[in-house]
Amino acid sequence: MPGSTRELFDAFPDPSPALVPIGPAQLDRVDDALHYGWAWHRHHYAFRKGDRIRILDAGCGTGLSTLGLARLNPGAAVVGVDASPVSLGLARQRAEAVRVAGLEFVEHDLDTPLPPALGTFDFVVARGLLGTADDPSPILATLARALDPRGLLLATFPSAAGRMPARQLVRALDAIVPAGAAVADRAEAGLDLLGSLRPDHPIRRFDASRHGPNGPNLEAFVATYLNDRETDWTLEAALGAVEASGLRCLYVADRGAWRPDRVFGPAIPGRLRDLVAGLDEPDLARLKDALDITIHPDSYTLYACPAAYEPPTPAWPEDLGPDALDRLVPHATGLATPFHVVADPSADRGRATYRTANGALGELEARSDRALRLVDGVRTVGTIEVEIGEGAEPEPPEARRTRWLDLANLGFVILEAPDPRQNVDCIHLGRVEDRLDCACPRRWVRGCEVHGHCTIATVGPADPKSAAYGQALGRIGISSTIACDHCADYSPEG
Ligand SMILES: C[S@@+](CC[C@H](N)C(=O)[O-])C[C@H]1O[C@@H](n2cnc3c(N)ncnc32)[C@H](O)[C@@H]1O
Repeated sequence: MPGSTRELFDAFPDPSPALVPIGPAQLDRVDDALHYGWAWHRHHYAFRKGDRIRILDAGCGTGLSTLGLARLNPGAAVVGVDASPVSLGLARQRAEAVRVAGLEFVEHDLDTPLPPALGTFDFVVARGLLGTADDPSPILATLARALDPRGLLLATFPSAAGRMPARQLVRALDAIVPAGAAVADRAEAGLDLLGSLRPDHPIRRFDASRHGPNGPNLEAFVATYLNDRETDWTLEAALGAVEASGLRCLYVADRGAWRPDRVFGPAIPGRLRDLVAGLDEPDLARLKDALDITIHPDSYTLYACPAAYEPPTPAWPEDLGPDALDRLVPHATGLATPFHVVADPSADRGRATYRTANGALGELEARSDRALRLVDGVRTVGTIEVEIGEGAEPEPPEARRTRWLDLANLGFVILEAPDPRQNVDCIHLGRVEDRLDCACPRRWVRGCEVHGHCTIATVGPADPKSAAYGQALGRIGISSTIACDHCADYSPEG
């Protein structure tokens, strides 16, 4: 790691405690993006290792991502590695403040191989790490070596196209602030400049997509705009760098389902349609990136595995009938802290009490409690129902549906969508139905920050499989209105 990069992160550790204060509330800021790719991999790639998986948070900074990974994967051993001692000090404070188990922090420069004693990892996360490297290949080589032969890597690269507005702001700032000014002085001037732009200016709109309507504070401004160690990447370069390290790119996450009608008119020739339909994931990502420039607003997020590993392809049954619920595989999201049974005076009455991730208490009737305990990401709903049904009275189908929806509403499980990459449950606000009502495709993983709602489900009538899924779940009414009414910049066509 170049000395200037270390100086930057020692002076401005990321994420800054000013931005995400150390303390219990930081748990509410966990980013579900850290989890969902892993969940997808674990389900569809027949990755069955139980809970004791090992996760490496490479370039963990002040440990917010590490905490998130530990909390989202109860039982996992999570190691955060960073070269900035200041950042690691804050990471340890974060961990101590919330007492999340299974965490370890190690100071190490990832330009060099990890100590062999750290072993290999099932899931390696390199978020915000590679963008500041002069040459990411030594880091990627380290990460590839650290990956289990059937492991998954998540790596982000700053997107040149997505960050154009940020770069434009810095150009404007450079024009008005004396050369050589201190970072803090540039940030003060930058905040004034940003706040003075018209609200509909493209740079303001870019900023609102990251920081919400109130804009950034000083630390967030530095992280977003003044990290001049960061290089911009094209998708081609990012794919090339990952593959040069001996990994196979599985897919590039983007913020919504691929909707050809976003870029093609109705007169698309059949030949072209077939070509597009036959593309593999990386080529489809190239096409989307080239034609749909807004699809990667900020960074490219690549998922990769060792080149020699050929994970089975995801499969979703074509014939979703009324029994579809039986075939869904619910999984423990970990969005709730490990199921913590609170001292429970009601246990005798056949009910169990849990604390959810946002601190709320939930109460479950005994059958749901038993169902929940069998959720392991492998058993289907049908299998679980059979197991808990033994010796119990048979139930009408509607009661089962209600139970599973209630569990989802408590934030304990995600009912698996046709493509779980497109259905990410987040913080536990409102019920599933409400959340679908405000699911804003522009926010995809993070949810609608504008009015604080969550869950994104790119379901709709355009996708018959998704619609069938919605119908299978009964109470989730899939309609054409999944837009967030409060997001001025969302248009159903956009
Ligand atoms: C933008 S922060 C990302 C923090 C965290 N991953 C997250 O997503 O919130 C990037 C971190 O990578 C670390 N870093 C950059 N190059 C590194 C290297 N060669 N070895 C170890 N850490 C490095 C920096 O010190 C910094 O803390």
